[in-house]
Amino acid sequence: MYNQTIVVLDFGGQYKELIARRVRENKVYSVIKPGNISLGELKKLNPIGLVLTGGPDSVYKEDSPKCDPELFNLGIPVLGICYGVQLMAYSCGGVVSPCGVSEYGKTEVDVDLKCLLFKGLEPRQTGLMSHTDQISVLPEGFVCVGKTVNCPNAAIMDPEKKLYGVQFHPEVESTPNGREMIKNFLYEICGADGDYDMKDYEERMIMEIRSQVGKEPVILGLSGGVDSSVCAALLEKAIPGQLYCIFVDHGLMRKNEGDEVEAAFKGRNVNFIRVDARERFLSKLKGVTEPEKKRRIIGEEFVRVFEDEAKKLGEIRFLAQGTIYPDVIESGGNNSATIKSHHNVGGLPENMCFTELVEPLRGLFKDEVRALGVQMGLPRKFVNRQPFPGPGLAVRIIGEITFEKLELLREADAIFREEMDRSRCKADQYFAVLTDTRSVGVMGDFRTYGYTVVLRAVRTNDFMTCEYAPLSHKLLGRISLKIVNSVKGITRVVYDVTGKPPATVEWE
Ligand code: XMP
Repeated sequence: MYNQTIVVLDFGGQYKELIARRVRENKVYSVIKPGNISLGELKKLNPIGLVLTGGPDSVYKEDSPKCDPELFNLGIPVLGICYGVQLMAYSCGGVVSPCGVSEYGKTEVDVDLKCLLFKGLEPRQTGLMSHTDQISVLPEGFVCVGKTVNCPNAAIMDPEKKLYGVQFHPEVESTPNGREMIKNFLYEICGADGDYDMKDYEERMIMEIRSQVGKEPVILGLSGGVDSSVCAALLEKAIPGQLYCIFVDHGLMRKNEGDEVEAAFKGRNVNFIRVDARERFLSKLKGVTEPEKKRRIIGEEFVRVFEDEAKKLGEIRFLAQGTIYPDVIESGGNNSATIKSHHNVGGLPENMCFTELVEPLRGLFKDEVRALGVQMGLPRKFVNRQPFPGPGLAVRIIGEITFEKLELLREADAIFREEMDRSRCKADQYFAVLTDTRSVGVMGDFRTYGYTVVLRAVRTNDFMTCEYAPLSHKLLGRISLKIVNSVKGITRVVYDVTGKPPATVEWE
């Protein structure tokens, strides 16, 4: 198996995975390596091009990360980004110095269209700038092919040596034509053929998993979420029969969810263990109203159940996790191989018997994981589900959690989601919440006394902030009627029109 390879050399910038992703998007395989990789190691990878990432340091400082300067004489095309272009200029004999005026944010860049990086683009571009140093004197052989008001060498090249660099960040969305520039680098400068796709990723991962675990068994905590499900599908293919998936049914799932998870894995080549822990969780949660306490109890109980089941299987060294790249950022590191806290349900204890992690999705972004899932035969509907918190409906029930309340919420939530799907209304996440408020109502000739349900539908890109989705009154009216008519015990429906901030997405 051989694909043309782009090596992304890491100098400590926050966007290295995004660069690797942009390369993959353009159907070229990419691998991230430390910036100080030896030339020997680099040559073994036989790259068609190198991308030097940004980084927080100053190249002229003695202890800042450097690469072997011979790297620029190998005849391999190089694209330097931010710190990467400064390092290129510095290593080739140019001068890098502090900016007179530092640039942050979207900036207009006038580019020279004779540079292949900008082929097919307009002479005025927008680029995301974030720098306090800049190239003040170009090395011999280089020419300036882009400038901003404050940065005279915002893009440079030495086409003879196939060296190119930009001070701005083409990998981020804030550089609208950045993808095009990266594509130009790959296809116009490196001569890429576009011989890589998700199928290749799958095959590579399968080989890596096999070489990591050999014939040993592997255990996976399956939450039913997209990431752990796709991870399971990949492991199943790599090591058929060696995978044990433990799905802890804590009873806080949405309507039919436990069965859907089971159905998705039935008939596949995994040892699927569904643990019915509903009673166990509910009895621990009895009388608890404080939201953080609920979360703690659920997290701890999950670990205990997982541990009990793992013990029954005997000594297993390998723990698989569906960690994806955004989780790696969230947990504050990207090199550590320690067992990271299970962001869905609370940390797995360090003293468990596992000594090695298997994390085949670690470099991928969510949409790539979804694409891989579909490719691996998981149902599209299952793979494209909205985010659902690990503590489940527990973070959508105000006050004490009881079986009856869970049933009410499950029904109301199912109706809301079904109607939303039918209406094709644009919202990124939508669900129902059960409040602890009951009020008097009237149905037929009878007085009722039931709960109030809140409908929540939000629009967001990253779930860190959101706006409420402006659902039509007609739709809201229809949903309200359907819920109060078919869910006995719910007598009032309200719609949440708060954004985040000041609110949050969930209700706890
Ligand atoms: P909040 O309520 O913090 O939610 O505004 C932001 C996004 O995160 C999801 N969420 C969770 N996801 N484990 C998860 O995996 C959790 O404990 C958790 N709590 C909230 C929430 O659904 C929303 O998409």
